[in-house]
Amino acid sequence: MDSGRVKELPVQENITVQKIEEEVIKDFEERMAIVIPTKDEKLKLFEGVISGIPHECLIIVISNSQRKRVDRFRVEKDALKQFCHFTHRRALIIHQKDPILARAIAEAGYPDILGEDELIKDGKAEGMIVAMLMAIAAKKDFVGFIDADNYFPGAVWEYARCYASGFSMAKSPYSMVRVLWRYKPKITAGMFFNRWGRVSEITNRCMNSLISDKTGFETEIIKTGNAGEHAMSLRLAEILTYASGYAVESQELISIFEGFSGILPIVHPTAAKHGIEIFQTETRNPHLHEERGGQHLLVEMLLPSLGSIYHSSLCGNETKRIIMDELLQQMAIPSNEEPPKPRLIAPPGTINLKGFKSVMTEHINSYSALDKEE
Ligand code: GDD
Ligand code: MG
Repeated sequence: MDSGRVKELPVQENITVQKIEEEVIKDFEERMAIVIPTKDEKLKLFEGVISGIPHECLIIVISNSQRKRVDRFRVEKDALKQFCHFTHRRALIIHQKDPILARAIAEAGYPDILGEDELIKDGKAEGMIVAMLMAIAAKKDFVGFIDADNYFPGAVWEYARCYASGFSMAKSPYSMVRVLWRYKPKITAGMFFNRWGRVSEITNRCMNSLISDKTGFETEIIKTGNAGEHAMSLRLAEILTYASGYAVESQELISIFEGFSGILPIVHPTAAKHGIEIFQTETRNPHLHEERGGQHLLVEMLLPSLGSIYHSSLCGNETKRIIMDELLQQMAIPSNEEPPKPRLIAPPGTINLKGFKSVMTEHINSYSALDKEE
């Protein structure tokens, strides 16, 4: 979490543990936007999360909170404005259903995330993609995602540092950092420090089966199949195919395996030449978020996540069988049905980014929480 100042580095040649100095972390944080997707979260949680984002990062809030009965978006905006005012920070906040945003997306030719009402579709994945485009427009090099329902500002702070330290170690400009929680506690009669969430455990197993099947060597390498907390260099973010809903994080890995493992045609030769680096970083803080829980949610998450693996052209029969067994055991699907295909979203780099920027830059100042009025 902290490896000290540069001047304290002892002169040592064969160092096996990499030391990342404070200044290096700060340099990478400066080049990074932290995106907070939010939808009707408790204000206290939202405030805690933004206060945990390191000072140097640009904050981007993409909100799909309600505006009708109570304008929760307005409240989020006020809270962010206060925070930025007192801490001298820069932040952007935008509503997912903002018509100007939808116009910018239409201008860019990106129908995959537009709904029939010509506004951006609901969903965290759609919000993430819009925020990536905003991070590009704000000239950042990295984008990291952190959910707004986290109870520990200290954990948020640690995620951002994990992202920065991962990128500082990357040798390729196409890199990704995925967070693996040390513990994800459950509050039952007392508090129990779970190692794995149920969905993560199954997703990781199925993804590892896909890799084992292709390489002929059994592996447990994948530990972050569902990592909601993750970050990418924007050069990588631009060239990946995404999926809507809970399939988004697993599809990112599947897209990398499909596009760059060399089994299927390479999708981006320059990136393939550099290689794609994926860091899986274990945190020290436990992850405690708003518990929506229940069997229903487990199934809602598991089905799309496993669907993205099942429908990959890399997925062999053995892995398909394991996926079907899991889904049937969880009673997620009827016995004669396959999991649904994920709804794919084209790489953001394939759209007309200039079109997006031209509509957004004339408005981007109005999305700054530091501005006086909307
Ligand atoms: N902008 C936006 N738009 N944000 C949304 C939307 C939306 O339509 N829906 C949800 N969010 C926000 C929530 O407010 C929260 O901050 C974050 O996205 C994640 O949503 P949750 O509802 O808290 O998801 P979860 O806790 O069940 O799942 C999380 O962990 C999974 C892995 O364990 C998410 O990060 C998943 O994406 C991840 O797969
Ligand atoms: Mg959550």
